[in-house]
Amino acid sequence: MSLAESTLETVLSISDVSVTFGGVAALNSVALDVCRGEVTGLIGPNGAGKTTLFNVISGLQEPDRGTVLLKSTYVTKLGPHRRARLGLARTFQRLELFGSMSARENVQVGIDARREIGDLTAQGLLHRVGITSDADRQVSTLPTGEARLVELARALAIDPALILLDEPCSGLDDNETQLLGELLRELANEQRGVLLVEHDMELVLRICDRIFVLDFGEIIAVGTPQEIRENPVVQAAYLGTIAEPEDDA
Ligand SMILES: Nc1ncnc2c1ncn2[C@@H]1O[C@H](COP(=O)(O)OP(=O)(O)O)[C@@H](O)[C@H]1O
Ligand SMILES: [Mg+2]
Repeated sequence: MSLAESTLETVLSISDVSVTFGGVAALNSVALDVCRGEVTGLIGPNGAGKTTLFNVISGLQEPDRGTVLLKSTYVTKLGPHRRARLGLARTFQRLELFGSMSARENVQVGIDARREIGDLTAQGLLHRVGITSDADRQVSTLPTGEARLVELARALAIDPALILLDEPCSGLDDNETQLLGELLRELANEQRGVLLVEHDMELVLRICDRIFVLDFGEIIAVGTPQEIRENPVVQAAYLGTIAEPEDDA
């Protein structure tokens, strides 16, 4: 590891987090950290516990055990709004937008929630995520991909230190996915932490600095994209299944 890498500032540190639902372990002693300036990937099959971990980080799910350190504050017992004020933003796998409001109004809600008044405008944030013509359309009438981008624009309104993205590319076409990848790199370059849950492996392997692999609620590997690609345990648990030719099944 280079000196530059070893001096990156940690923005999120999770340790020993466990969650059970009705006696079934959704997360088992999970440890994970995210640095400013990096895109960190979190991958794993459906049901692995990725969204549950996002809920623990953002304060929507209380863990049975473990701690969540955001910047220099232990937030394990704090509610979602306190965490947002500390600079945590997220987008949802199942969109959480105000359907009857326009794209612009949804982003304005995020801006209004900020404590300091900056020079951000809803229009500027929508432009940043690539929405130029549909700002005044009611979001329930937008294609899913575009609605995801509105949610991202709203998340950016708090000027986050850490942003969690739960499958942001589902519903996006190839061109939108490419642009989103570039935007996530930009957000990292602005010294934010970016934690990305995404099934588009090509994107994850291309834009992430480091990737954590979750399987049945446990972190089974962590490493650079190349290390993850070559890891036999990961291949067996995850990558292998999507690389398998279909007529092999
Ligand atoms: N609120 C809940 N109540 C009960 N079980 C849940 C709940 N949320 C998630 N689970 C279960 O926890 C496991 C992990 O789910 P989830 O975190 O959504 O996985 P992923 O996002 O990786 O697909 C799954 O077995 C899921 O059925
Ligand atoms: Mg999920």
